Amino acid sequence: MFTLPQKESKAPTTCPGPASTQDLDSNHGDGLERECSRKPDWKLPEFCGGGDPTATASSDSSHLSSRGSIIKWFWDSAEEGYRTYHMDEYDEDKNPSGIINMGTSENKLCFDLLSRRLSQSDMLWVEPSLLQYPDWRGHLFLREEVARFLSFYCKSPAPLKPENVVVLNGCASLFSALATVLCEVGEAFLIPAPYYGAITQHVYLYGGVRLVCVYLDSEVTGLDTRPFQLTVEKLEMALQRANFEGVKVKGLILINPQNPLGDIYSPGELRDYLEFAKRHKLHVMVDEVYMLSVFEKSAGYHSVLSLEGLPDPQRTHVMWATSKDFGMSGLRFGTLYTENRDVATAVASLCRYHGLSGLVQYQMAQLLRDRDWINQVYLPENHARLKAAHTYVAGELRALGIPFLSSGAGFFIWVDLRKYLPEATFKEEMLLWRRFLDNKVLLSCGKAFQCKEPGWFRLVFSDKAHRLCLGMQRVRQVLEGKSQVPDDPASCQSQESGNQRR
Ligand SMILES: Cc1ncc(COP(=O)(O)O)c(C=O)c1O
Repeated sequence: MFTLPQKESKAPTTCPGPASTQDLDSNHGDGLERECSRKPDWKLPEFCGGGDPTATASSDSSHLSSRGSIIKWFWDSAEEGYRTYHMDEYDEDKNPSGIINMGTSENKLCFDLLSRRLSQSDMLWVEPSLLQYPDWRGHLFLREEVARFLSFYCKSPAPLKPENVVVLNGCASLFSALATVLCEVGEAFLIPAPYYGAITQHVYLYGGVRLVCVYLDSEVTGLDTRPFQLTVEKLEMALQRANFEGVKVKGLILINPQNPLGDIYSPGELRDYLEFAKRHKLHVMVDEVYMLSVFEKSAGYHSVLSLEGLPDPQRTHVMWATSKDFGMSGLRFGTLYTENRDVATAVASLCRYHGLSGLVQYQMAQLLRDRDWINQVYLPENHARLKAAHTYVAGELRALGIPFLSSGAGFFIWVDLRKYLPEATFKEEMLLWRRFLDNKVLLSCGKAFQCKEPGWFRLVFSDKAHRLCLGMQRVRQVLEGKSQVPDDPASCQSQESGNQRR
């Protein structure tokens, strides 16, 4: 039976993190702030992310179970930014004064290439098996293709095996399924923070699993260190703290390239984190959903599957999806690679609820096998467009004298707006976030990623030039205190023609 974790009685430490069905990117901590002000004496354990929603989701609907109320609470408390955006989306012709979305991590740069490829005749195939109940792990022809694809792009030392592959509808479902099959209700995963905040609800809504933050900060402590660097020492400390508080930690979540930092872990770092996990018998879920979105060659990305001899293969589970690298977040295709047969089978059992249509499986197999198109058309063009968009936004930020972090991977820049907060508080961060939204540009604030330092924002650049240009105009207006100044779309038209790539 599924029982929700009981309300904790420890001293308050934080408010529940916001969560969103869309990547949290649209989040701003609004519900969070509301909840914090309503229940000042709310008791919370040192969990990051979801805090203890059982404490707040009082059953406000006679139609919902207590579990249903909590699930609804996550939606209600975190979606306002996204809802506001959808009611007033920017459209060049129909709604030019609408909101520009620089919050959601989607790649909108390559629709032309993708629509052309997905419209070719080899994509259209119907046969009885595609319309019948499938093997819940995914059709064998697709798992074979995924295994070949990952072997090639992850540079695995030996060919990966189709029997270790499970396909389902995206990484969000995979987090949910893995959490459910690896943990008891109330158990936890370590996660370096700031992190892609929607994981909080991915692991909690069905699995009742918590996150324990390994907090990173911007301070650089030595010659060889970088801001927000994850170290084994920090992992050890977070684990010790969780143990001390009686929280059973079952695993570690790594995102590589990282969201929102854009950080890339070196093979040495990866191995250190995996060795740490092995020492403590922790599972590691490695989210590589941005692995082909490394647009700076010098960034030197390595998949965990490229490592010679994983320290603990039975506890290492790798995720990838087409949502980011192929700019198809609406198509819903994700995959798990694990050598642990029990884990693969348990996740496959849940795929009855997270499966893909046979027709989509066929299309994905066609796409992943088309190495010529991927290597000669899609990836070079996608990387060039990402790089051009990044160069533009980075240039604008430099011109404004705003510090930022970005490593040439992913769709976003982690921007330091601390100097624009009158006081270093999350209340001020939210006020700034709201000023951006009032000026019709949606960003994601650091609190939505459980960043400990108020004033960091994530800015998504993987969009068409004219939208980026208008978005940056609006950002600049807010930072320069000129939010009432009308847009100058003409200057953005020239931006578009000056850079056709995007
Ligand atoms: C790091 C990371 N993992 C997973 C996801 C969700 O992926 P999907 O759309 O495949 O469910 C996101 C979406 O933003 C993400 O940023």
